[in-house]
Amino acid sequence: MILHKITEVREKIKEWKKEGLTIGLIPTMGALHAGHKSLIDKSVEKCDRTVVSVFVNPIQFCPGEDLDKYPRTLDKDNELCEQSNVDIVFAPTPKEMYGEGHILSNDFLTYVIPPYFYVNKLCGKSRVGHFDGVCTVVNKLFNIVQPDFAFFGEKDAQQLIIIKKMVKDLNIPIEIIPCPIVREPSGLALSSRNKYLKEEQKEYAVALSKILFNIKSCYKKGITDTNALLETAYTYLTPNHNLEYLEFCDENTLEGKSTADDNTRVFIAVKIGDVRLIDNILLK
Ligand code: PAJ
Repeated sequence: MILHKITEVREKIKEWKKEGLTIGLIPTMGALHAGHKSLIDKSVEKCDRTVVSVFVNPIQFCPGEDLDKYPRTLDKDNELCEQSNVDIVFAPTPKEMYGEGHILSNDFLTYVIPPYFYVNKLCGKSRVGHFDGVCTVVNKLFNIVQPDFAFFGEKDAQQLIIIKKMVKDLNIPIEIIPCPIVREPSGLALSSRNKYLKEEQKEYAVALSKILFNIKSCYKKGITDTNALLETAYTYLTPNHNLEYLEFCDENTLEGKSTADDNTRVFIAVKIGDVRLIDNILLK
């Protein structure tokens, strides 16, 4: 069932709560692929009822990013959800979420702002305000759907860590379930943005996962100096790869690491042409 209005969702949720049913939520921006489906399947298995939100959230896009051209495929998304036994697809308009005229600046909208320490690195460095937009919309979705469990992919590990922190700091009574990254056979992590890649660019895109897998195998062989691990990446990089970052951070606190250990997550962002791709791996 596809619903566009907050009040309609609330009514359904009220019914389910009355019946004592558990609810799982998967927040998405649509253009659903097998990565999203893995989160959906986990929720359908674990929870009595599953809600998928499909909302291209304008306040998490920075100026010059792909808000207008972000893929919107609601009919196909709804089909995938129906086939996966999702109970509600919640697809609101920006006006429904942010109100008349949807005035999106923080002069007019109450924002949830994650701590500076978590956002002044990795994706947060180039995407200023991005995680404010993510935390604000996720918090709104939590309040609308009031799920028992919410499912997030490790594909966006910085986002996942920041959301866990928000839930802890704000005492939100929802359990966050992390889900592993789904990859193509080539190793490329599935992403809605892969659609932008031309065929030859896809070959360059494989470098991200190759770099990460190789770093992990070097770590497993006993190399823990992160500078030495970092250097192994350069054999995979060509002038077609515009490396934005390759960093070693603590899995929970995002603190930078000079010596790698099992709690270290390696994060990479590369631009290939106009397409910005991210990936990460836990060294454990
Ligand atoms: P979106 O990019 O649509 O991703 C929705 C969820 O799917 C996120 O938790 C993301 O980590 C997960 N996901 C995407 N690709 C994946 C893959 N290859 N393997 C496993 N999980 C994957 O992330 C967002 O939307 C938004 O920021 C959102 C949280 C919905 C807030 O607007």
